[in-house]
Amino acid sequence: MSMPVVAIDGPAGVGKTTVAGKLADALGIPRLDTGAMFRAIALNLGENGLNMNPRELRQALSHFDFRVEGCGGATRLLCNGIDPGAALRQERIGVLASTYATRPEVREFTLRMQQRAGSMGPIVAEGRDMGTVVFPTAAFKFFLDASPEVRAKRRWLELTARGGTTPLAEIMDKIIERDAQDRNRPIAPLKPADDAIIIDTSLLDPAQVLNALLDKIRTSPAGKVFPGHCHA
Ligand code: DC
Repeated sequence: MSMPVVAIDGPAGVGKTTVAGKLADALGIPRLDTGAMFRAIALNLGENGLNMNPRELRQALSHFDFRVEGCGGATRLLCNGIDPGAALRQERIGVLASTYATRPEVREFTLRMQQRAGSMGPIVAEGRDMGTVVFPTAAFKFFLDASPEVRAKRRWLELTARGGTTPLAEIMDKIIERDAQDRNRPIAPLKPADDAIIIDTSLLDPAQVLNALLDKIRTSPAGKVFPGHCHA
């Protein structure tokens, strides 16, 4: 039996969050931004938290609780009842999150939180290991890819539009650093599931990526379970 989950995996800056939000709107279901869990842990525990031994880290994680609230692109991931907001989106926090994501205690904890969110009903789940580890029986599995140059440029445009001043070269370096760490870690590395549909988004805009995904979902019997709109 497959789960009514749409799994979207892919590297940093490939556009998963944008597409997952639009897809969740179109299907009328919540979105689970799993990167935001790792980012919230990184933001709260900071650089010093990386010095904790496994027991201390497990203890620190026991104080975190994540809940999904809302529907579609407006879904919020609450950390202990609070939306951590824009602070999560800093590149520095992305790199720190990627380092926390190599720790087995963090992966065990986030796996539990993510599977609990997925057990509540249909969901669009985006991350690195949705199709391979967290939701291996997801009804739909997509893996979005694009060259590091394209991804760095997208991230830079997004950050600049929000008033950021980080140079493109620095963003590119961080993306390459994160790629290496996410792909080469021993537990749940970034890679497409054997049964994932791989989409190279380098030459596509977000609307075209969304259409490619919707096309696969709407032409499949498994896609009939999604309501198609969020309740007001
Ligand atoms: O998707 P993102 O950029 O917000 O993710 C931040 C980091 O969190 C990413 O570099 C690696 C980690 N991550 C992970 O290991 N597994 C996931 N399912 C999602 C994110």
